[in-house]
Amino acid sequence: MFDTAPQFQCPACQAWGPVVPETTDCTACKAPFPRTEGILDLRADRSRDTLLDLDSYDADHGVGQASRRIATTYARLLQGAGVARAAHVLEIGAGSGNLTLGLAQEPYFESILSTDISAGFLKRLIGRLSDTGAGNVSLALVDGNSLPFHPGGFDAVIGHSILHHIARFEDTLAQCHKLVRPGGACVFGEPILDIHAFASLLAQNILLAAEMSGHVFGKKERQVLTAVAGRSAIKHGNLMGDRDALAQVEDKFQFSIDRMAELGRSLGFSEVTCLNRGTKMPLGLRAMDMLRRVCGQMKLDPGFLTPFDGFAEALSTTYGTPLGLSDRVQFGFFVFRK
Ligand SMILES: C[S@@+](CC[C@H](N)C(=O)[O-])C[C@H]1O[C@@H](n2cnc3c(N)ncnc32)[C@H](O)[C@@H]1O
Repeated sequence: MFDTAPQFQCPACQAWGPVVPETTDCTACKAPFPRTEGILDLRADRSRDTLLDLDSYDADHGVGQASRRIATTYARLLQGAGVARAAHVLEIGAGSGNLTLGLAQEPYFESILSTDISAGFLKRLIGRLSDTGAGNVSLALVDGNSLPFHPGGFDAVIGHSILHHIARFEDTLAQCHKLVRPGGACVFGEPILDIHAFASLLAQNILLAAEMSGHVFGKKERQVLTAVAGRSAIKHGNLMGDRDALAQVEDKFQFSIDRMAELGRSLGFSEVTCLNRGTKMPLGLRAMDMLRRVCGQMKLDPGFLTPFDGFAEALSTTYGTPLGLSDRVQFGFFVFRK
């Protein structure tokens, strides 16, 4: 499928070989490559899987509906980072194809190797790819903690909503730096801590005000507010805490834009930017918008928040205006240029 295939490391003898997923045996040691449910399996530990439920993930995220638009964003960001031609692209955490289906149709991406830790998700992706008739995507089971590919073999390494699932994402990013050729780039779309922290602050303020005024919330209303109030602190704590203990948590982190940029530069990337597509919605309104959206996900009418709209305005005046944070949205695209 690849004209000049990126090289994989044979799990049996560690030899590099220009192997493609269709190849059945290692050219060096002749051992058959392991497969799980028919998919080339390059995981060191084949018992590893995601904790996500495939069907509810698919339904909640409308997988496939926005793929073309998402892929175009990745293409533009890579072009902007100086990658004129993406002949060989590695995708980490492809899941059931939210980005991959778009990559397959976007002419900028020539040969795509899409990987994930979960056989279930990749099986669903195979079905979807065969519906599109795309022939430029190869699939392999790979744990993002350990990427068994030859250094410099890719023009780009990308992933949509994956780094925050990887306990030691710093190591993954360091490996990505090695995997892209000089002049290549990596792009990862990830949740951003900054605005989530303000949504948490808003939820905390609302809970506090209710307590002081004797306002009573329904059980589910209190649950949502309490969950949002604690979420940023928990995810930030995860960054500081025991990473091994995070094996049982799927959504582990939210990232600070500035800290991610520092990390990227410390790993040797020449430039790190973050596309954080904001509208000019004031910070407080954006935080309130997030809170309302969480209510929607929990099938809770967000109307109970209306009496607290003033808190959102106060958040804009207190923090948004002086800090210039009005355009921070909850999801951003980090671009790492090598
Ligand atoms: C939020 S989903 C994103 C999937 C897809 N990119 C999308 O946008 O819908 C996270 C994906 O990361 C995968 N994943 C979780 N931990 C992983 C790991 N250590 N290595 C590779 N993939 C992993 C999960 O199986 C899941 O498919």
